[in-house]
Amino acid sequence: MYYIGVDLGTSAVKLLLMSGDGKIENIVSKEYPLSFPHPGWSEQEPADWWKQTVEGLKELTEKCDKSQIAGISFGGQMHGLVVLDRDDNVIRPAILWNDGRTGKETDYLNTVIGKDKLSEYTANIAFAGFTAPKILWMKENEPDNFAKIAKIMLPKDYIAYKLSGVHCTDVSDASGMLLFDVKNKCWSKEMMEICSVKEEQLAKIFESYEVVGTINKDVAAELGFNENVKVIAGAGDNAAAAIGTGTVGDGRCNISLGTSGTIFISSKNFCVDDMNALHAFAHADGHYHLMGCMLSAASCNKWWMEDIIGTDEYAKEQEKIGKLGENNVYFLPYLMGERSPHNNPDARAMFIGMSMDTTRADMTLAVLEGVAFGIRDSFEVAKAQGINISSTKICGGGAKSPLWKKIMANVLGIDVEVIESEEGPGYGGAILAAVGCGEYASVEEAADRLVKVVDVVKPDRDLTAKYEERYQHFKKLYPTVKPLY
Ligand code: XUL
Repeated sequence: MYYIGVDLGTSAVKLLLMSGDGKIENIVSKEYPLSFPHPGWSEQEPADWWKQTVEGLKELTEKCDKSQIAGISFGGQMHGLVVLDRDDNVIRPAILWNDGRTGKETDYLNTVIGKDKLSEYTANIAFAGFTAPKILWMKENEPDNFAKIAKIMLPKDYIAYKLSGVHCTDVSDASGMLLFDVKNKCWSKEMMEICSVKEEQLAKIFESYEVVGTINKDVAAELGFNENVKVIAGAGDNAAAAIGTGTVGDGRCNISLGTSGTIFISSKNFCVDDMNALHAFAHADGHYHLMGCMLSAASCNKWWMEDIIGTDEYAKEQEKIGKLGENNVYFLPYLMGERSPHNNPDARAMFIGMSMDTTRADMTLAVLEGVAFGIRDSFEVAKAQGINISSTKICGGGAKSPLWKKIMANVLGIDVEVIESEEGPGYGGAILAAVGCGEYASVEEAADRLVKVVDVVKPDRDLTAKYEERYQHFKKLYPTVKPLY
């Protein structure tokens, strides 16, 4: 049988076709626009997601025996606010995970309601990109739209709804709304009251590997699929990527270098860090995880390469980079503000330390290093909790670069394990579909059997020491420049 994983990303939807034994049969990517209507705002049209998903599904399955397609599931960009009216029409463009408009609402939640209460109700505090502050923003700034809301959905759940007709979500993605009691895996009554939301406006909650329904007849006809193709709840993109890289069970780590950059630590037990600096979310394997999220990671490199120096020859540009560990230039990667650990939507990116002999290659390197240092900031929070991480998997577009993987191994001082494909969320989505259809007994079993490590990048003692020194400098930069933001 075949299983489809839909990775509903920020720049494109990536679709992956997997056979029951885990072999990747085909991958298709379809882009859509991202709009920044005001500085720090970030929006997308759910209609674009749907159109490109349908086009992508057609292309993905063009050459396969469609009668063998059994299930479809998702990894989706998290936290986005999608609002539907009572006829299930989209009320306004989706407000995305990297949107920074809710500074006021986030402050209100963290200071007036209070971090202790938020953490008690949801296991998390408010961050500007989370869904609940966006609901408060809509209530205050778009009261007419707010009054029309019949359903509040997350991005990938909108696609699941269009495919199956079911208003569903899964525990991992729901965790990032700040409306979900992560420990008890149910909607929080207190948070619903704080946000003026009723339970019927929220979606039905599923574990990530559970079947929510079958594909709608008209969609099946358009795609040429059987009407018994199952739709499985799926997961937030980071939890799906963790499944796709075998980051399941206890104490395993995955780093994703996509538009965002995340460090994800799986845990069999529910846990929260003392400062709530990391997100404490449910995992798609039925357990829990901790996660740090940078708002700009591979997107910093894309911005530098394409928008600033004007090239898309990433590998060629990186070939010009000389010795590692001796760069005098630092880059603060806060192009869209920053989430973990600074929680500051007003933070902005910066190059520091240039001199007359600074080269374009030094600046390219500084961008790659700045993202690795940003990941290290969250890694340090995890270490301070007594979590011992000795190796990590890696996925996302940035994981294609051998140089970036080497920098990451040496900045963190741990082994970076490379797996067959860097398509984390798409592969994870396909695995969730296979588990939902009964091809495997559990997510852990499927991930352990299917995900193979093909290479390990080991840290080098001298280079790790050099990067340690550079990280200690990097760490001082944000507090120094913070008053300027
Ligand atoms: C995670 C987060 C991002 C998005 C990117 O908390 O906001 O990783 O999910 O798609």
